[in-house]
Amino acid sequence: MNIPFSKVPLAGNELSYVNEVLESGWLTTASKALQFEKLFADFVGAKYVCAVNSCTSALHLAVEAIGIQKNDKVLVPSLTFTASAEVLRYLGADPIFTDVEYGTRLVTPAIIKSAINSNPDVKALMLVHYGGQAPVMTTPDGEGIVDICRKNNIRIIEDAAHAFPTKFGNRFIGSFGDITCFSFYANKTITTGEGGMLVTDDEAIFKRAKIMRLHGINRDIWERFTSHKSSWEYDVVAPGFKYNMPDVNAAIGLAQLEKAEYFREQRQRCATYYFENLKDLPLIDLPICFGPMEHHSWHLFAITIKPNAPISRNEFIERMATKGIGTSVHYKPLHRMTYYKDTYNLNPADFPNTERIWNGTVSLPVYPELKENELEYICQMIKETLT
Ligand SMILES: Cc1ncc(COP(=O)(O)O)c(C=O)c1O
Repeated sequence: MNIPFSKVPLAGNELSYVNEVLESGWLTTASKALQFEKLFADFVGAKYVCAVNSCTSALHLAVEAIGIQKNDKVLVPSLTFTASAEVLRYLGADPIFTDVEYGTRLVTPAIIKSAINSNPDVKALMLVHYGGQAPVMTTPDGEGIVDICRKNNIRIIEDAAHAFPTKFGNRFIGSFGDITCFSFYANKTITTGEGGMLVTDDEAIFKRAKIMRLHGINRDIWERFTSHKSSWEYDVVAPGFKYNMPDVNAAIGLAQLEKAEYFREQRQRCATYYFENLKDLPLIDLPICFGPMEHHSWHLFAITIKPNAPISRNEFIERMATKGIGTSVHYKPLHRMTYYKDTYNLNPADFPNTERIWNGTVSLPVYPELKENELEYICQMIKETLT
């Protein structure tokens, strides 16, 4: 068998929507991007959205729009992709790395409280929805992560690269923090090839992000070319970026969005199979899903090989590869990456749960087209490899 780690499902209207764009003769940002923005906003229940060319761009726009500046401190879990922290460095701000809970791999209210106690001047939190599960956002007694941040005047940027469609309570991720950023990179639950979306309910943040998305120009290029009024004229109000989403990508996104819930259900089918078939294996820990399975996007299904297993994580990955199974690692923590380690003099001992995860973590294939016999083969090979 040959089972890749990730595979993009493209059986919907992708081709026909892309053709419409090609036939229109306007390949950059225009009506498809606007339509994608509108439908995405409706889906997650947010007021304002900005389609961009990656989640990294969305995160950069987000931290800029909420006014993060040089030497500002922002909490970031160490168990994340570098994009979550690098955007702070673009502005000269400093990530303050935190540990995560072992089972869920998420930050908890207790972790956030303790980080605020140690850093009372922290300005914001980069909240990562690891694997597609949201942490405890709010609680009836006001002890959720969002509640704690509000009480302490800490802004929240949600790195929801993995978290579409994800819910907490009965609300989609996208309207809890100050800004939420999604990824449509090729391996994500819905894709535009490369792409991202910034979502907010705050009009001022939205206006700033929208202007900075396109060079700090005060009007959209498309509007500039199609408007009947003084069509050439525009003004530059800030040194912005070039982060708009082209219509070719938005066309793919529109087709993917139509099937988002189906994709999520199919990913859940894979997760359910793994839970049922791997639950009795003593040498691995399975991920903990603390809410209803339906609230999880199941972007990742990451197991942890325990320290008493006969082989290391790297050997496990190599052996799975020889059996034709692609796996991956999410993540080598940022406190172990040369740049962050050297710049902030980080010590692995300060991140005990993240270290435990890092030593054993392996992400298994999860995607809508993964068939029952392939899931069965993966589980058999895991058992064979570990015994
Ligand atoms: C947690 C996290 N944040 C941000 C990103 C960046 O996303 P993009 O590739 O769309 O810029 C990723 C990418 O995989 C990610 O995993």
